[in-house]
Amino acid sequence: MEKKDVFVPREALERQEGFMARVARINDLYRAETGRQRTAFVDCYGCQQNEADAERMRGMLVRMGYAMAPDEREADAVVINTCAVREHAEMRVLGNVGALSHYKKARPDMIIAVGGCMPQQESMSARLKRSFPYVDIVFGTHALWRLPEMFYTKLVEDHRVFDIENEDGHIAEGLPVLRKDHIRGWVSIMYGCNNFCSYCIVPYVRGRERSRRPEDVLTEVRALLDSGCREINLLGQNVNSYGRDSGFAWDFSDLLAAVCELPGDFIVRFMTSHPKDATQKLIDTIASHEKAAPQLHLPVQSGSDRILRLMNRHYTVADYLSLIDYARARIPGIAFTSDIIVGFPGETEEDFLGTMELVQKVRYHSLFTFQFSPRKGTPAAEMPDDTPHEVVQARFERLLEVQNAISQELHEAYVGKTVRVLAEGESRVADYPISARSDGGRPVYLKSERDVVGQFVTARVDRCSPWALYATDLGR
Ligand code: SAH
Ligand code: SF4
Ligand code: F3S
Repeated sequence: MEKKDVFVPREALERQEGFMARVARINDLYRAETGRQRTAFVDCYGCQQNEADAERMRGMLVRMGYAMAPDEREADAVVINTCAVREHAEMRVLGNVGALSHYKKARPDMIIAVGGCMPQQESMSARLKRSFPYVDIVFGTHALWRLPEMFYTKLVEDHRVFDIENEDGHIAEGLPVLRKDHIRGWVSIMYGCNNFCSYCIVPYVRGRERSRRPEDVLTEVRALLDSGCREINLLGQNVNSYGRDSGFAWDFSDLLAAVCELPGDFIVRFMTSHPKDATQKLIDTIASHEKAAPQLHLPVQSGSDRILRLMNRHYTVADYLSLIDYARARIPGIAFTSDIIVGFPGETEEDFLGTMELVQKVRYHSLFTFQFSPRKGTPAAEMPDDTPHEVVQARFERLLEVQNAISQELHEAYVGKTVRVLAEGESRVADYPISARSDGGRPVYLKSERDVVGQFVTARVDRCSPWALYATDLGR
């Protein structure tokens, strides 16, 4: 794909702006007649990139004259942004789409739209078409920027709208955004994935890697900082391949450095980093920039070289561990986190013990653990898999037990010490009513006499669990 072809042309985006204005006029008329403003609700599943997309959907809906509803119950339009990464995620979405049929019976004018990664799979969009006739709009990841046209068509022509064309993907700059969180900002720096890990559906539903221009990323980050945002999260399926598709002079480390060098008091996090492309330069960049968080989410997936090969991950356990050692030496106190899949097809007890050993060597602060879920169309779904479910479940529990003990030990080392945290919002813990995050990315429950949300605070850690630290604001 030529770089110039990647960007959605200005005229095409202006056309969508025209649809936003037309839908807004329809909704204004409705308000004039009924005295009531129409409302919309966007529900989102999946990764932070999906959340960043949902913020754009909300931005477009506001421009179309909808007010945001707190949930789906009263909303005139419900958009569900879906995730296809595991069967469990898809089942949850289908359950919730099913539940919407009751609301639709009571209020037939309600518009229901299902978008994102699930309908980008042909079999799933066919299923939505066939089995969920009350879903009005179905759109894939590539159609996000055409949401206004789909709404207009539904409102004016009153028939179902499907926009699920498969393509390599585009970049649509300048879409309106409505952000829920004013302290943390999600910034996609690239879209898509080229890695085709053998178990993963993402490359099929998100298209090929395409990087935003550095100046577009920096402009978005500056605007976030101007609006009071204190935590910038740079997002991509593999941020380490940033710029490769487009032949920019900048790689991800350069972009990270440029973001950190913007003026202001803020912290920069990023995800995700594929270990095969994580470089010493990246680690040196984190080490030499105070605003880069001292943490690294480096998904290893398995601690068996044989399984890593079958997963098409392109690194060995030894490669991975040498990267960890380098990062530990360069960034004192760095917190590692990871993703692990248990029960990949053909995983033996020996393979699994390799994973357990690696987890004990690295000592992650926390782990995201998943049981393998076959995804139709991926190579791993065709691989022979004779491990009984009970065995996979038992391995999964063994891994959690080992990890929880490690997390508890690592967290105990913070007790009595002071940490800098960013206060982000309310928590559900009675005596520690503020939710916060340490520079290293640890979830923190905070107690404070002051109104500190949105500020960096120095706090003393009182106690901990394997999942969080509990800390008191020292008032400075
Ligand atoms: N791009 C990111 C991951 C995106 S998906 C990366 O490469 O790290 C998030 C996690 O879901 C993956 O890291 C993997 O651990 C898990 N995952 C993906 N496909 C899966 C599948 N078919 N079954 C179980 N877990 C899966
Ligand atoms: Fe999936 Fe691998 Fe791409 Fe991550 S890098 S999104 S796991 S294919
Ligand atoms: Fe899920 Fe799509 Fe993200 S499949 S993990 S929402 S890219």
